[in-house]
Order: sequence, then C-alpha cells, then structure tokens
Amino acid sequence: MDWGMQNRLAQLIKPDGHCMFMPIDHGYFLGPTSQLERPGETIKPIIRYADALFVTRGVLRAAIDPAKSKPVILRVSGGTSVVGGDLANEGLTTSVKEAVRLNVAAVGMSVFIGSKYERQTLLNLGKLVDECEEYGIPVMAVTAVGKELEKRDARYLSLCCRIAAELGAKVVKTYWCEDFDKVTNGCPVPVVIAGGPKFDTELPVFEFVYDGMQKGAIGVNLGRNIWQHPHPVAMAKALHAIIHKKATAQDANEIFNDVKSGKESVVT
Ligand code: 5RP
Repeated sequence: MDWGMQNRLAQLIKPDGHCMFMPIDHGYFLGPTSQLERPGETIKPIIRYADALFVTRGVLRAAIDPAKSKPVILRVSGGTSVVGGDLANEGLTTSVKEAVRLNVAAVGMSVFIGSKYERQTLLNLGKLVDECEEYGIPVMAVTAVGKELEKRDARYLSLCCRIAAELGAKVVKTYWCEDFDKVTNGCPVPVVIAGGPKFDTELPVFEFVYDGMQKGAIGVNLGRNIWQHPHPVAMAKALHAIIHKKATAQDANEIFNDVKSGKESVVT
C-alpha cells in the first residue's frame, strides 16, 4: 500500500486499531434534520471525541473550521431525497478532484444491494475506487437499505459487506445485527458499525456497540444516537470509552451517568 493511502487510513484508524467516526451527512437526503440544523454548533462540544467527521462538501465548507477540523470522510454520493421516488437511486455527486482539493482522509458512498439500483450503485463504487486509488484515497462503502429497515440481518449484511470489499472499499460501514461476527468474518476489510434510528434509552446503544466491537467491528460511525440525545457529550464520552478504552456497556452507562450528573469531567 502506498504511503499516502497508509497515511490517510492512519488518520482515521487510531494505533489501537479502532475508530470513532461522527457522521453529520444526514442533510444530503433528509434536509435540515433535528439537531443538525446548524451542524457547526452541534459538533462543537463533541468533536473532541471523534476520530473523523463524515460530511458533505457543502457542510464542510459552510460549517467546519479548517483550522480545527478532525480528519474528513467526504460523502460523495447522493442525488435523492426522502421525499423523492427512491432513496436507492444514488449517483456520485462529488469528484475525486474536489476530494483532493478538500484534503480529505477518505471518501464515502452508499451502495443499495438488493434494490432496483444495485448495479448502478455498485458500478459507481468500482469507478470511485478506481479513481481514488490513483491518489491514495481510501473509499468507505456504506451498505444502505433506504427505507427497508427490515433488511438488516446477518445474512443480508454479510453479503453487502463482502461485495463492497470485493469492489475495493477499504472500510465498510454497516448496521449492527444479531450474529454480527458473521458479517465481520466474511469481510476482508475493516467493518464499522452504523448507528441507525435513535434509541429511546442509552444502554441499548452501548450494548450493540460493545457487542459489535467484541464481534470484530473496528469502531462506529454513529450520529443521531449522539447528537440527537439530550446529553450528547455524555453519550460521546461513553461511546469513546467502549471504542478506545475497553469499557463494557455497563462501564459506558456509568460514564454516561457520571458526565450527565456532572460527577465526571467531559475531557477524555
Ligand atoms: C446515511 C449515513 C449516515 O452517516 C448514517 O446513517 C449514520 O448516522 P446515524 O448514526 O445517525 O444513523 O450514512 O446514509
């Protein structure tokens, strides 16, 4: 692997082999999104816990201070919206030249396997990998399901992750599911756990992240369960402890409660 590619991956994946990505890209198909109306303000108290931001070029330029940013994973797919015909009908929205101009650590795009647009999104992944390899830029594939959330089982997600890796993704982001080791075992590149819709309580979030890490994930790409939570700093610190400090779900819950009640400092 060339130095540039290695260096970019090392910006994203820390020496312990783990990573905590913070996605704020939701507006690319959802519009403003609750708590993400002003993304720069949303991330101010929690960015210290993130190893990278997953973001579009629009929000990056408009809301992220280039002097204080974490490494960037640039969202380069889109072209659909939650009020449009089919969320799966995505194309590439941003060029690799733009990714180079923005000095990003990686680019990310969604593939919609099993949808009407499977072929189109997979060919786009191959094309993006071809172009990014020229410049040493890793591609993160997002195994997206659109509105069909029931698709999230180990059989389907392992198929998606393996295909994304076969096409050249350097990292794959997918949903947590029961028997998550089936997903990680069948995927030859690192797997990162996506967040999904917000849970009502904290412990189930800590539990699925802990379980996923025990079963071979290298980290998370978690958004709404952090920044839509009434205590985002407590959530971020607790999750950071699972990912980088070997905390269990119960340890994380205690950290959450201590930060929430002001007993523990917000600094790691
Ligand atoms: C959308 C994405 C988001 O980055 C992803 O959904 C993660 O955010 P959340 O934890 O809020 O689900 O890729 O397709």
